[in-house]
Amino acid sequence: MLYVKNLHKSYQTGRKSYSVLKGISLSVADREFVAVMGPSGSGKSTLLNCISCYIPFDTGTITLGGKNLKGMDENALARVRNENLGFVFQDFMLLDGLTVRENILVPRIIQEKVESDAEELADKLLALFGIASVADKYPADISGGEKQRTAVARSLINRPLLILADEPTGNLDSKSSRTVIESFEEARSSLGASVFMVTHDSFAASFCDRVILLKDGMVYDTLEAEPGHREDGRGVFQDRLLGAIREMSRMDSEISGRISPHRLSGSDMPDSSFPPTKETGRDVK
Ligand SMILES: Nc1ncnc2c1ncn2[C@@H]1O[C@H](COP(=O)(O)OP(=O)(O)OP(=O)(O)O)[C@@H](O)[C@H]1O
Ligand SMILES: [Mg+2]
Repeated sequence: MLYVKNLHKSYQTGRKSYSVLKGISLSVADREFVAVMGPSGSGKSTLLNCISCYIPFDTGTITLGGKNLKGMDENALARVRNENLGFVFQDFMLLDGLTVRENILVPRIIQEKVESDAEELADKLLALFGIASVADKYPADISGGEKQRTAVARSLINRPLLILADEPTGNLDSKSSRTVIESFEEARSSLGASVFMVTHDSFAASFCDRVILLKDGMVYDTLEAEPGHREDGRGVFQDRLLGAIREMSRMDSEISGRISPHRLSGSDMPDSSFPPTKETGRDVK
């Protein structure tokens, strides 16, 4: 469904070119729930923004639902974005002046396509995510979890092939995080969407079928959950994830130490949150 092959992306600052994605290849299958984890600055948001058609990439290919994004003009990219993708952002990005129901319909309002099928789907999503009772309230008057469920519902109003989410549980407590993750699972089973989620949180990632670990703009490792892990093996999967993240940060410290102990300052220094623990909930900084 989504194929990324040998993706390179660099940013230009002044005369210097700064390479951020260094040959990323990955895929997401139909109805698959995939997480991307990695230290701060490893290129997760950049990767998501390239897939979102928000920023151009240098070389490589991205194919979404059989369409190659390379070489498409702005209008064609906007169409891909509207028709195939749903977005969930860390800070919800709900419009304060609109009710929950109207917020869910925003992507259709933008396309001037608020027909009866959109109204019906909005009602279905309100019920599916348990927010029907707050449908006529404004964002300021609902809880964080309800806001985020509204944001997930909004991402589904165009029946996208793929939901892209950048730290969707970043601002939430563990109960609300769980609700968001469960909304993604619901989106997948009821509406057939795939989910590609950037997260720092191994608990959220433990719900996924697969977790891709990114480091320095490259895929460092991919971990697959055991089939049926949702019922009883999620804790085991979370432990495996934490182990892989610790290994990744340990190698980093060893390499920095071997090159020169004096370089262990500033950005070479692993964050204070390393090594990650299950308690923090936020594991990769
Ligand atoms: N518009 C930009 N111009 C120049 N450099 C950028 C730009 N956006 C990001 N970068 C740099 O690219 C690198 C990767 O950034 P990116 O936002 O993809 O990281 P990330 O993995 O999402 O980090 P975080 O976990 O902190 O969100 C960083 O070093 C960042 O400073
Ligand atoms: Mg980011």
